[in-house]
Amino acid sequence: MTKIKPYKDSDLGKKEQVTKMFDTISGDYDGLNRVISFGIDIKWRKKVVKLVKETNPETILDIATGTGDLAINLAETNATKIIGLDISSGMLEIGKEKIKKKALDSKIDMVLGDSENMPFEDNSFDAITVAFGVRNFETLENGLKEIYRVLKPNGTFVILETSIPTKTPYKQGYKFYTKNILPLIGKLFSKDRSAYKYLCESASVFPYGEALNNILRKIGFINVEDFPQTFGVATIYKSSK
Ligand SMILES: C[S@@+](CC[C@H](N)C(=O)[O-])C[C@H]1O[C@@H](n2cnc3c(N)ncnc32)[C@H](O)[C@@H]1O
Repeated sequence: MTKIKPYKDSDLGKKEQVTKMFDTISGDYDGLNRVISFGIDIKWRKKVVKLVKETNPETILDIATGTGDLAINLAETNATKIIGLDISSGMLEIGKEKIKKKALDSKIDMVLGDSENMPFEDNSFDAITVAFGVRNFETLENGLKEIYRVLKPNGTFVILETSIPTKTPYKQGYKFYTKNILPLIGKLFSKDRSAYKYLCESASVFPYGEALNNILRKIGFINVEDFPQTFGVATIYKSSK
């Protein structure tokens, strides 16, 4: 897989660049997310919560939690503990404020950490989620192996990630939107232009559908299923250990 990094003229590795980029855009992130996806991202996260809720987990780990939207939504399950993990302290700080305002701080812990080397014991969580995070991992397979390690046997793993519509006219519409509209939105609303270029470019090369299903199976996940959302611009992947 081609390794797309946020800053082309930087010598830093992808992980350091991604951390720096999310630290920089953390203040704009929530607003931009709504604009970019026309607010549909809220609906997609609700579907992830529904899939997780059906398995009745007690402990949930939300990896690449960012500003905590999915972790906050997961608080409506019967879980007694939810941990949000992220490598960007800037994103986590925004998330912590939101959690405090919603008085969810006894249920949700926000932890600074790297998904590819997590500070958790083997077989720790009943469910693990990642929304728009896996394509930012430095090495996808290492991140997925770590997730497999800390997930309990029979535990549920749900990914929400961008994908590319395969059918006409959505395919052409998506290409037009990502090539012409998205960079304009990035330019108008964000301090960091490379960030939105990176987000589009990384989405265009990231495996989706059966390709990602097969990577999950190779790591050892079973019962792998994918559910394309909104003409295929995002996909939810559910699997277990
Ligand atoms: C596009 S944001 C998604 C945030 C949130 N899950 C959401 O749905 O809005 C991607 C997040 O992945 C985090 N991230 C990227 N690489 C990571 C890693 N190796 N370990 C932990 N978090 C990582 C970034 O810091 C960023 O907050």
